[in-house]
Amino acid sequence: MSLLGTPLTSSSDKVMLLGSGELGKEVLIALQRLGVETIAVDRYDNAPGQQVAHQARTITMSDPEQLRALITQEKPALVVPEIEAIATSVLEELEEQGKVRVIPTARAARLTMDREGIRRLAAETLGVPTSPYQFCDSLESLQAAIDGGIGYPCVVKPLMSSSGKGQSKINGPDDVARAWQYALAGGRVSQCRVIVEGFIDFDYEITLLTVRSLGADGQVQTSFCDPIGHKQVDGDYVESWQPQPMSAKALEAAQDIARAVTSDLSGQGLFGVELFVKGDQVWFSEVSPRPHDTGMVTMITQWQSEFELHARAILGLPVNTALRVPGASAVIYGGVDSTEVEFLNVDQALRVPQTDIRLFGKPESFEKRRMGVALAADADLDTARTNALKAAGLVTVKAR
Ligand SMILES: Nc1ncnc2c1ncn2[C@@H]1O[C@H](COP(=O)(O)OP(=O)(O)OP(=O)(O)O)[C@@H](O)[C@H]1O
Ligand SMILES: [Mg+2]
Repeated sequence: MSLLGTPLTSSSDKVMLLGSGELGKEVLIALQRLGVETIAVDRYDNAPGQQVAHQARTITMSDPEQLRALITQEKPALVVPEIEAIATSVLEELEEQGKVRVIPTARAARLTMDREGIRRLAAETLGVPTSPYQFCDSLESLQAAIDGGIGYPCVVKPLMSSSGKGQSKINGPDDVARAWQYALAGGRVSQCRVIVEGFIDFDYEITLLTVRSLGADGQVQTSFCDPIGHKQVDGDYVESWQPQPMSAKALEAAQDIARAVTSDLSGQGLFGVELFVKGDQVWFSEVSPRPHDTGMVTMITQWQSEFELHARAILGLPVNTALRVPGASAVIYGGVDSTEVEFLNVDQALRVPQTDIRLFGKPESFEKRRMGVALAADADLDTARTNALKAAGLVTVKAR
């Protein structure tokens, strides 16, 4: 089936994005450039991606009834999850009935929305190296897991959360009860279950963007982007750069892990494989079956950004994962709580050499909300990082 018809005519095949934040917005733009008809779904009106799609719909995507009704009504050819908090049972049901194709697959969406699903698959089924871990349903079982082998320091996370929400590090026995409470309060669903992981004292962490696309022979092939290094503060990404220098051995191990995990998840599309690296040793952390926030740097570093790669891969088109120039990204935070913000000094930011800026157009700013990103290219990675940070720092978000 060719997806490339003409939007808004009878030849069009629609693509529905479930989640239309800054990452979805860029996927939508990439699809728009190929003449695909798009529907942007989010939980609130005027989400970034809704501003660039043919149609905008606002529903609670974790509500099975609402999600089923929308997909059944719109009949998109492809459903592309951009967030984790989706009623994936509905996707599995509709996929099984042959009513939609889910990207990469409905099973991948289900397994990766839940830390238990993906961790058990990676560590227990596929045997890839991960931190030591246990799942716990009570404070007592958490303490028992730590005493029984996980040890200190360790990290506690809700089963369903992202951007570090509800996640904390335990340095010793005094921290355990607080970490348990924090995880319960920070999870996306009220669930008395957490994962506790041994703390990996890594040298650096990477996102390995991995693409499953169709080759000339019609078979799925796997290709890798150059590794992206990143810095996380409280579990949220603040800076990323590409390429992260790695030993040949570590890179090979990283690619082997990424290939194993993404092959099992199957389907077509781009995946963000998160890995920890120490010397030549590599541990799998988690994977997004979709573009990754740290991968925004590829908008300046690659011939085809992670968003274009995702769009091409899901449409069955060829991809090119080659690096164009080294570069870096730095997040622009809201800094203020307001429903009407202005961005000052964008002109000054863009005077920093070889930089670019994306402002996401989010209707509401919060102090810790990601409102934009600064991008910088330079043959010298340190210069690129310095310039991205400088440009991001120059932009001031002001409540009107
Ligand atoms: N076992 C661990 N050992 C050391 N550091 C860890 C461990 N687990 C998580 N971290 C640190 O915390 C960050 C966030 O963890 P993780 O990716 O599991 O959370 P998340 O909420 O899914 O975040 P995001 O949605 O931003 O990817 C990691 O990128 C890493 O820096
Ligand atoms: Mg992560």
